[in-house]
Amino acid sequence: KKKIAIMTSGGDSPGMNGVVRACVRMAIHLGCDAYCIYEGYEGLVRGGDLIRKMEWHDVRGWLSEGGTLIGTARCMAFFERAGRLAAARNLIAHGIDAVIICGGDGSLTGADRFRAEWPSLIEELEANGEYTALQLEPYRHLNIVGLVGSIDNDLSGTDATIGCYSALARICYAIDLIEATASSHSRAFVVEVMGRHCGWLALMAGVATGADFIFIPEKPREDNWREEMCGIVEQHRKLGKRKTIVIIAEGAIDREGNKITPNMVKDLLADKKGLALDTRITTLGHVQRGGTAVAYDRMLATLQGVEAVRAVLEATPETPTCVITINENKIVRKPLMEAVQDTKKVAQAIENQKFDEAMGLRDTEFSE
Ligand code: F6P
Repeated sequence: KKKIAIMTSGGDSPGMNGVVRACVRMAIHLGCDAYCIYEGYEGLVRGGDLIRKMEWHDVRGWLSEGGTLIGTARCMAFFERAGRLAAARNLIAHGIDAVIICGGDGSLTGADRFRAEWPSLIEELEANGEYTALQLEPYRHLNIVGLVGSIDNDLSGTDATIGCYSALARICYAIDLIEATASSHSRAFVVEVMGRHCGWLALMAGVATGADFIFIPEKPREDNWREEMCGIVEQHRKLGKRKTIVIIAEGAIDREGNKITPNMVKDLLADKKGLALDTRITTLGHVQRGGTAVAYDRMLATLQGVEAVRAVLEATPETPTCVITINENKIVRKPLMEAVQDTKKVAQAIENQKFDEAMGLRDTEFSE
């Protein structure tokens, strides 16, 4: 019987449990044994009871649970060859040679490297006398498939990462709440949202809540951003608006690459002559990441989980490690490292101040 293991890695995101549920059940449905690796790469390195066989009923009710029930952890040991050797030993001990990983681009890159190194790890186990060549014969190749779980929607090559729409819904809900109090006092609020180096959450939240102004890393503000923002806010106030909402992505920068902080924006709105708005800052923080997944993320998790099991069973030693994406509403398999490299190009373009290039490389349209 083919044995398939599923793990979650990196920051948790809503929908990860849906992925695990879909993978476990699809694997069982296709006559395979399903395993979960608990605590991300930590579980892979430590093995033991962190690698557990899963039954159909073990994942009952997981679609509506937030976070990741099988845990995730940052694992330094996996960066060392000794850690990866231990990981190979643990997988073989359980008879596993197919792994599905749901995580961000860092976690998925680690998985691809592990797969590339696998033959040499196997040779080492043989050279150490831990297994004979005959025993290792079924494990000459490791198949890995990635799924992108992140609230940031920061992987090029997919329209949505698992969890981003849940975080967006949470942000919109929070801003609706803020608006009620802002309007009551005729105040301004600067709302900081997550996203690391990606502005998708801030941009979409801005559109969905009708914010007055937004800051995102992909559109670094010109030198005159202060005048521009104050001018727009002033105009909105003149039109009778009693509340001002400015959304700032945590990665927001100006054209020189300097960070634009919520405090800078707040001071401006409060001190600018003619505006002098009573201003507060709200940092939404991890509220954005927790909680149950919205319907879209449950659907994405389920369809992609099913496809991941198919992909890992069909993979050959020659096929490049693939990632399951969604493009124009179709679930697609793509070479993992191409998606990761395109993502890196965006970061590099922003760093080199080639902002138009960065915009073009993102899958989401960032046009005004
Ligand atoms: O990648 C997801 C994310 O929530 C980012 O938006 C944020 O920058 C980061 O993780 C926060 O990391 P941590 O949970 O380790 O503080």
